[in-house]
Amino acid sequence: MNDTPSYDIDILIPESEITARVTTLAREINSHYKQMENGCPKLVVVGLLRGSFMFIADLVRRLDLPVEVDFMTVSSYGTGMISSREVRIRKDLDAEIGGIDVLVVEDIVDTGHTLAQVMNILNTRNPRSLEVCCLLNKPSRREVEVPMRWTGFDIPDEFVVGYGIDYAENNRNLPHIGKVRLTD
Ligand code: IMP
Ligand code: MG
Repeated sequence: MNDTPSYDIDILIPESEITARVTTLAREINSHYKQMENGCPKLVVVGLLRGSFMFIADLVRRLDLPVEVDFMTVSSYGTGMISSREVRIRKDLDAEIGGIDVLVVEDIVDTGHTLAQVMNILNTRNPRSLEVCCLLNKPSRREVEVPMRWTGFDIPDEFVVGYGIDYAENNRNLPHIGKVRLTD
């Protein structure tokens, strides 16, 4: 049985715009870490799976820093009350991050609950620094504040897919960001 309604995908952000923006973000990230006091001996870039896989791949190949790449998988459990949503770790980091510079890479920040809780978890491990780079931000949906140092694009409250992001596990392979339009 397939519960997904039929839909079309309209292009919201074309591939060329994503590439240009990722290049600019990488330039800003390079200069931020190069200017840090005592330099940056190692930057652990943490991708939140699965939505960030394409973004992190494009981002890290433009970083001119001593980078280690690691991944985390988290899932949110809705309890009916959105504000009490809990995030559970399904796959934790392999890297030790105590005393290390850490950059979390996320696909979309929507209500902010996922990232806020991931930041709390990672902060308990005492990284030297902890920053966030998210590709897409839906400011109108925010329920909890998350300090995001780098954001790719602010987008309206639309359901988006592509460039790693799925709708019911489909469309992650699209090279652009599209918005889902239900057709019936
Ligand atoms: P938050 O906890 O509400 O900020 O949820 C963020 C997560 O919800 C993202 O990492 C995505 O996995 C998912 N999400 C939010 N908006 C969309 C969307 O438009 N398309 C696909 N997934 C989304
Ligand atoms: Mg996600």
